[in-house]
Amino acid sequence: MTSTSTSTSTSTSTSAAGTGPATDPGPATGRLAGRTALVTGATSGIGLATAHRFAREGATVVVTGRRQQQLDAAVAAIGPRAVGVRGDAGDLADIERVMATIGELGGGLDVLFANAGGGEFGALGEISWDTYRTTFDRNVGGTLFTVQAALPLLADGASVILAGSTAATRGSASFGVYGASKAAVRSFARTWAAELAPRRIRVNVLVPGPVDTPGLGDLAPDPAAARRLLQQLADGVPLKRLGHPDEIADAALFLAADSSRYVTGSELVVDGGTTQL
Ligand SMILES: NC(=O)c1ccc[n+]([C@@H]2O[C@H](COP(=O)([O-])OP(=O)(O)OC[C@H]3O[C@@H](n4cnc5c(N)ncnc54)[C@H](OP(=O)(O)O)[C@@H]3O)[C@@H](O)[C@H]2O)c1
Repeated sequence: MTSTSTSTSTSTSTSAAGTGPATDPGPATGRLAGRTALVTGATSGIGLATAHRFAREGATVVVTGRRQQQLDAAVAAIGPRAVGVRGDAGDLADIERVMATIGELGGGLDVLFANAGGGEFGALGEISWDTYRTTFDRNVGGTLFTVQAALPLLADGASVILAGSTAATRGSASFGVYGASKAAVRSFARTWAAELAPRRIRVNVLVPGPVDTPGLGDLAPDPAAARRLLQQLADGVPLKRLGHPDEIADAALFLAADSSRYVTGSELVVDGGTTQL
């Protein structure tokens, strides 16, 4: 989760020219049939697994990420219901362009998963202003301004899902800035759920425990250290393993679909028991 921001421009990436799906995806069936979803940070890990899942459930899925090549690969892998827009969730102009593309699709927005985010290790005493600013811009600012920019597009009754973390509530050594940024995200969900309830828009936080993604391994300085870190994290989980991105996607689908229609302002913890046992 340590990749750095390199792009402030967006370009639309689809499996063909234009902003729409490349080939006719066929009739939409499934729990999100006919709906439009935005998954930010969907070229890898949890976001990619969730975008796959949403598309399989019949949604048109707009996916974002900063790296064009990875975005093109994600769109190709997800298939004809995917629409890619390159953009940095920490950049206001990029966010606006993502929303403009969704506006051009013409169907509004039924599901927003503000997933783009990440962090880096740094104990108190060694935290730079740049680490603080980068982490908060991406996780807090990116979430805030993505949801805010989406407001005119969000359909009444839409589902907004924010990516939280167990680090928001547990004291994870060397993860203070990241944990604080995710605590801010948790707080936003409560406020926004109250503010958007009149439009029946639900806002919930999805809280993964340690999940086996490229971003988790990237927290370590080299592959050997990454293996040690992942093993250490798995050992700390009561179920004695890391989560799989598909297991988080299952929970995201629950929050996105009508099955969670009476759930708002809440958090869904998918952590193998880490925060409770
Ligand atoms: N994995 C875990 O154990 C875990 C646990 C708790 C919470 N989470 C949270 O879950 C979310 C996804 O994590 P992950 O582990 O799946 O991460 P990941 O494997 O690093 O994937 C992150 C995705 O987000 C994109 N991204 C990152 N920063 C972005 C930005 N500023 N703007 C747009 N896209 C951006 C990345 O693509 P580009 O680099 O090309 O932009 C990539 O597609 C994050 O919010 C993370 O904090 C993860």
